[in-house]
Amino acid sequence: MRILILGGTRFLGRAVARLAVAQGHDVTCAARGVSGVVPTGARFVPVDRDDPEALVPFASAGFDAVVDVTRQVSHARHALAALADHVGHWSFVSTISVYADNTTPGQTAADAPLLSPAPPDVDAPVGPDHRWYGECKVSIERLVRELRGARPSFICRAGLIVGAEDPSDRFPYWVRRLARGGEVLAPGRPTDRVQFVDVADLADWLLHAADSRLAGTYDGIGPAMSRADLLTGVAAGLGATDARLTWIDQDFLSAHDVREWSGERALPLWVRLPEWAGLMDRDARPALDAGLTVRQLSDTVRATASWMTARPDDVRQGGLDPADEAALLKEWQAVRNA
Ligand SMILES: NC(=O)c1ccc[n+]([C@@H]2O[C@H](COP(=O)([O-])OP(=O)(O)OC[C@H]3O[C@@H](n4cnc5c(N)ncnc54)[C@H](OP(=O)(O)O)[C@@H]3O)[C@@H](O)[C@H]2O)c1
Repeated sequence: MRILILGGTRFLGRAVARLAVAQGHDVTCAARGVSGVVPTGARFVPVDRDDPEALVPFASAGFDAVVDVTRQVSHARHALAALADHVGHWSFVSTISVYADNTTPGQTAADAPLLSPAPPDVDAPVGPDHRWYGECKVSIERLVRELRGARPSFICRAGLIVGAEDPSDRFPYWVRRLARGGEVLAPGRPTDRVQFVDVADLADWLLHAADSRLAGTYDGIGPAMSRADLLTGVAAGLGATDARLTWIDQDFLSAHDVREWSGERALPLWVRLPEWAGLMDRDARPALDAGLTVRQLSDTVRATASWMTARPDDVRQGGLDPADEAALLKEWQAVRNA
């Protein structure tokens, strides 16, 4: 296939480009080149999508497939205006942040309620808390359906993406923490559900979708698992035999200002229940039936750990620092023994 990736200079887009090259496809990545470089073997064309006409020259290039990762409504609109009629297959990487109900487990893309589209004066997520992110993706999904019409389009609502080159502090926190071993603060209950997708599996599915002309809207997520299986699986993948998990109740953590999900003083992949019980417990069956394959957790752990070792300066440091974690563990034990 001749594939045009709108992106390709970081994480998922780069993983799609790298795998497409490895599979023998002809790969072009269009981006500014600000976020990074495209993988070896992919063609890089510098483009700034703030220019509405920037992608017009690609219309006559005869691409079989486009993969777009944008979060910006105008960028999607201009890309579709220029290219929707000229390529065989269109994949848009959306997000599970489009959903309005984060409480109910077991939902699928077919039946879950959505946020409203972004207001007309909002073009892209705003500020450090990425306000309007989900709404902008809803708007872009609508544009894809509208402007592609009956031509095949794949809307892939990714869940938490993990693996090598992860620019977030989420999965890498647990790799770093469990590699250090000792007593590890594990948030919530062992049975709490967590869910994610390996970046290489998602890349593989996007290419499979283009090749098979898959059409429709799906969640891009692997099967949910318990947090105990995640943390023991990460430790096992690292060979971290001396890591011991101490489970700490969510109310204790919240009362001590430990944050959820991501960022400074946060415990990644932890969200309060039952408010967020649907976030990491969606039904993966439609994705698996449509061709998503899921590698072993140990493979994801090893790929992430290898990248963290090879490129330490690229790894975002977040979560609890060791002294803070030790103090919380000590206080928890004191409360338990009182
Ligand atoms: N990470 C997760 O856990 C997660 C979860 C759910 C969904 N998602 C979605 O998955 C996708 C991830 O994409 P990604 O990993 O490839 O990273 P990304 O940060 O979304 O990449 C954005 C790409 O667009 C390019 N770009 C940005 N501004 C541009 C401009 N003005 N002109 C041309 N190109 C521009 C960037 O390249 P340059 O800066 O070099 O131009 C980069 O390659 C996103 O859509 C995200 O919403 C992610």
